[in-house]
Amino acid sequence: MLILGIETSCDETAAAVVENGAKILSNVVATSAEMHAKTGGIIPEQAARQQIKSILPVIDEALKKSGKRKAEIDTIAVTVGPGLIGSLLVGMETAKALSFLWGKPLVPVNHLAAHIYANWLKDSLKPPKFPALALVVSGGHTDLVLMSDHGKFQWIGGTRDDAAGEAFDKTARLLGLPYPGGPAISNEAEKYLNQSPIANHQSLSLFPRPMIDEKNYDWSFSGLKTSVLRKTEILKNKKTKKLSSENISILAAEIQEAIADVLVEKTLRAVNKYRPRSLLLAGGVAANQRLRDKFRLSISHLSFSIDFRVPPPSLCTDNAAYIATFANFNYQPVLWKRVSVNPQLTIVGER
Ligand code: KG4
Ligand code: ZN
Repeated sequence: MLILGIETSCDETAAAVVENGAKILSNVVATSAEMHAKTGGIIPEQAARQQIKSILPVIDEALKKSGKRKAEIDTIAVTVGPGLIGSLLVGMETAKALSFLWGKPLVPVNHLAAHIYANWLKDSLKPPKFPALALVVSGGHTDLVLMSDHGKFQWIGGTRDDAAGEAFDKTARLLGLPYPGGPAISNEAEKYLNQSPIANHQSLSLFPRPMIDEKNYDWSFSGLKTSVLRKTEILKNKKTKKLSSENISILAAEIQEAIADVLVEKTLRAVNKYRPRSLLLAGGVAANQRLRDKFRLSISHLSFSIDFRVPPPSLCTDNAAYIATFANFNYQPVLWKRVSVNPQLTIVGER
């Protein structure tokens, strides 16, 4: 089945053509992140306006790059939530119009559940086996779910306040780094990690690891902001009110370590309890190299084997390929007239 995926939940405008849920024929992403970097975060109104400008050229390009004609597309898949309402509407209305005009079925897609399907986008590998445990770490959500089959999710934990991505974005701002904060912190942290002896990496424990010992699978990231703020106040030059570049790198490494430690620890606890056949990482924060390395290391110490999957970084962050893949394995078309957006959607459905 050939599916055209469309994704506009936040500041990326994306379209992709995917064959049988595994082979990417094209994957086009236009982002307005640079515009938001200037304001230090997303202004929803501006993001939606950019979506309107980009949506048709992006779909056009995805079709061209796929080498397929629109007549060959079997189905259209579109994100309907969660996300920013203005941005979501642009993708959904476009998808509805195309479904009507081209006479193609339309599959509404939950963006969070779809993130996990980036792990199916490798036609040279066998698909992940169920039961699977999936950790979705994005800009607005942090969820741990058990998957007994396609589309069958049981939520077992998540964040009580800020999402992991949000923690990266907000603390990056405190360090004077641009939006999105995750890649910026990661780059700064790399400078420190590359220069300092490995023993120093092991003692990165400046910031607290909230809830790490609690017997649940939940996280709390909002306290990190306060701790980082306090530290930056102490370390800032009294005259210039700026942090030295050395301190920025050290603090970035500490922030990254604090976030990665709690994500790995709680997820591994769930792995030990539920013994799934696969562990799947997904969402923008899963692009973080340190997090990926720490997961690999912890998994190598397990007494049983588990198939650990994490998509390449470019498929962790928002794109439409996994939207198409989700629709391929959860094929539930809805008549275009009945499709609507739901900005509050959770990973397991309606709130
Ligand atoms: O999944 P995603 O692309 O969009 C949402 O659905 O929210 O996730 C975006 C989040 C942002 O918070 C961004 O800072 C974070 O993913 N992110 C990263 C990295 N790349 C993106 N966080 C840490 N390290 C990265 N390399
Ligand atoms: Zn996302």
